[in-house]
Amino acid sequence: TGRCVVAVDGPSGSGKSTVSRRLAAGLGARYLDTGAMYRAITWAVLRSGVDPADAESVAKVAGEVDLRIGTDPAGYGVTVDGHGVDADIRGPEVTGAVSAVAAVPAVRALLVGRQRDMITTAGRIVVEGRDIGSVVAPDADLKVYLTASEAARAARRSAEDAVDVAATAADLARRDRLDSTRKADPLQQSTDAVVLDTTALGIDEVVTRLRELLTERG
Ligand code: C5P
Repeated sequence: TGRCVVAVDGPSGSGKSTVSRRLAAGLGARYLDTGAMYRAITWAVLRSGVDPADAESVAKVAGEVDLRIGTDPAGYGVTVDGHGVDADIRGPEVTGAVSAVAAVPAVRALLVGRQRDMITTAGRIVVEGRDIGSVVAPDADLKVYLTASEAARAARRSAEDAVDVAATAADLARRDRLDSTRKADPLQQSTDAVVLDTTALGIDEVVTRLRELLTERG
């Protein structure tokens, strides 16, 4: 089994995580959640009392922490300086600050480097994020861009997080705007990405379609 890199990008609530994990499990490949890495750095920033808008201090924290993340699609752990942060990085404090931290160029350079190393080591891996096809793995074997209507994305996220749909919609719109307009590696659709609108598609249909695409490409 040779090298195979699948890049899955798209906004929050587009179904990226579920699709990427299932695709990786079915392929017997590794899985890398790059959003969890930005969230873990954000957790460290908040814990150290640094203002997420203070780019210089944020970069310093990012350079000093020991961030570890697994790549098993059936379940991976994230630790920061030995603290298990899997639950905390999904909380509202981290979600509210992560886009500011992810906009800091030094943070991106650091994490993109780590992500490339992990991809090289894994060989066969599904990687999800915002800039995977455009920056992290521009030579990926398959690039996918998942979208869904704002209403569908808000409904999915609010069901996952058990919070109000209106508040979720507002938070998604805010993060999308920040993630798409930042200068460093913004969320963007690679021209060579396969675009799939998941509004009306079930997870299994999306995964099946991606497996077909991989088979077609040999
Ligand atoms: O995918 P998830 O919602 O966990 O990502 C959290 C945040 O991390 C995004 O809103 C974005 O600001 C940042 N991110 C990024 N680049 C990636 C993955 C995530 O900037 N490759």
